[in-house]
Amino acid sequence: MLVAPSLLSADFANLQKEVDAIDSAGADWIHFDVMDGHFVPNITIGPMVVKSLRKYSDKIFDVHLMIEAPEKYVEEFANAGANVITVHQEAAVHIHRIITLIKSFGCKAGVSINPATPVSTLEEILPYIDMVLIMSVNPGFGGQKFIESSVKKVKKVRGLASDCNPDLKIQVDGGVNNNNIALLKNAGCDIVVAGSYIFGSDNYKTAIDTLK
Ligand code: DX5
Ligand code: ZN
Repeated sequence: MLVAPSLLSADFANLQKEVDAIDSAGADWIHFDVMDGHFVPNITIGPMVVKSLRKYSDKIFDVHLMIEAPEKYVEEFANAGANVITVHQEAAVHIHRIITLIKSFGCKAGVSINPATPVSTLEEILPYIDMVLIMSVNPGFGGQKFIESSVKKVKKVRGLASDCNPDLKIQVDGGVNNNNIALLKNAGCDIVVAGSYIFGSDNYKTAIDTLK
């Protein structure tokens, strides 16, 4: 299992220190939650923050865009140093075009679905993408309760992708902790995002190791 700590729960007054700390605690990827106050109620960070932190870590920068019209910002996040860019199925009108755009900058492309969005909506885009991100909370805030029905969506995605994209990575984001990690491992999840569980712990390394 790869572990991607979400900076959303980090100390925003000390982001560089927090990135250093999770980097040396064994984080595999670093997850950036980008929110615009439209697609989700919260407003968080933009490409400048990604760019500023890029020089302090060689880890994969995993940028989760929870914004309307994500196509407008793909280039800026790619130039800021994103390695993976994920857009929401619900926010994208021409999703195939957006995936092509993300890849044109040399980034891996992901598509995310909200808890109430069926896996079947991914069927036609699956052959073209590198990752599916299954939201296990309603996007917008850290520290929410894990929605357990997300686990069966992991299996469904794997089933749908088995022929058309056997290398597809499946990521789960929201409310992940020591109590639900075993369910996600058994379901075949490849990457977990965790914010409050890691940044709320006394020891980042122990928390990350528990999820691996
Ligand atoms: C939710 C974000 C998540 C989330 C993770 O909108 O995409 O990355 O904040 O934080 P926890 O692990 O606290 O749910
Ligand atoms: Zn996220």
